[in-house]
Amino acid sequence: MNERLSGRKVIVTGAGSGMGRAIARRFAAEGAAVAVLDLNAESAQETTALIATDGGTARAVAVDVSDARSVDAAVAESSQALGGVDTLVNNAGILDGYAPLLDTSEELWDRILGVDLKSLFLMTRATLPLMLESGAGTVINMSSIAGFVARGGGAAYTSAKHGVIGFTKQLSADYGRAGIRANAICPGAVETSMTRQILAEGDAAVIESINAVPAGRHAQPEEIANLALFLASEESAFVHGAAYVIDGGWTIV
Ligand SMILES: NC(=O)c1ccc[n+]([C@@H]2O[C@H](COP(=O)([O-])OP(=O)(O)OC[C@H]3O[C@@H](n4cnc5c(N)ncnc54)[C@H](O)[C@@H]3O)[C@@H](O)[C@H]2O)c1
Repeated sequence: MNERLSGRKVIVTGAGSGMGRAIARRFAAEGAAVAVLDLNAESAQETTALIATDGGTARAVAVDVSDARSVDAAVAESSQALGGVDTLVNNAGILDGYAPLLDTSEELWDRILGVDLKSLFLMTRATLPLMLESGAGTVINMSSIAGFVARGGGAAYTSAKHGVIGFTKQLSADYGRAGIRANAICPGAVETSMTRQILAEGDAAVIESINAVPAGRHAQPEEIANLALFLASEESAFVHGAAYVIDGGWTIV
């Protein structure tokens, strides 16, 4: 079998659902041992059960990615279970309800920035020493088209997702020569619970813009997992600090 991530030790956050689950399943199918991290321990267990059924290796670990103590404990548990960590997918994220600035409370701002941006600092700070020890590592950060334009979220979400790209670039600049590659993925609308929530609750202009993509449809989570696989594999060895838009053409129109 031609497995592209054979022997790799991977952490995926937010892997109990949506894109995180698809990435965890695809990486496990490509030979990686995967730590499935999520706030929702039950859904993380469901992902590991799916991976086990597929014949893969996975361990569910509960975490709040916005909390330093929780992150450090989850990374220690993952590293012990996997025998190290060489790949980190910072995928967990939450939406801000498209709230403009004057509808954004300090509590909402802190919550969104905590889960969508501070989490990258905490998770990467905890795993980078393990990667440096082994001489190589790959970090994949989930941004969004909201990392480029101002129509993928509200004030807090858009700020956080722009920050994800900045974080990715600085990480690459500081640690690229030490064998660390960091890249960001910027999806448009993907069929997950997050998008279902927008379609159910979002205002008409937002829904119209999501539905008007040149691709004529939304992405399946597995299509984002394909890009994550490329960025984790040796096929992307020269790709450092990039932000890949995968949006069905949403941002070109
Ligand atoms: N769905 C889209 O169209 C879309 C588009 C662009 C970017 N994104 C981004 O992709 C990522 C995944 O989104 P999704 O659509 O798969 O969403 P999802 O809601 O299906 O999955 C997100 C997962 O993150 C977990 N999570 C939430 N808060 C957490 C916390 N504090 N600690 C640990 N885990 C936590 C949730 O329990 C859930 O399992 C997010 O970063 C999101 O911002 C989504």
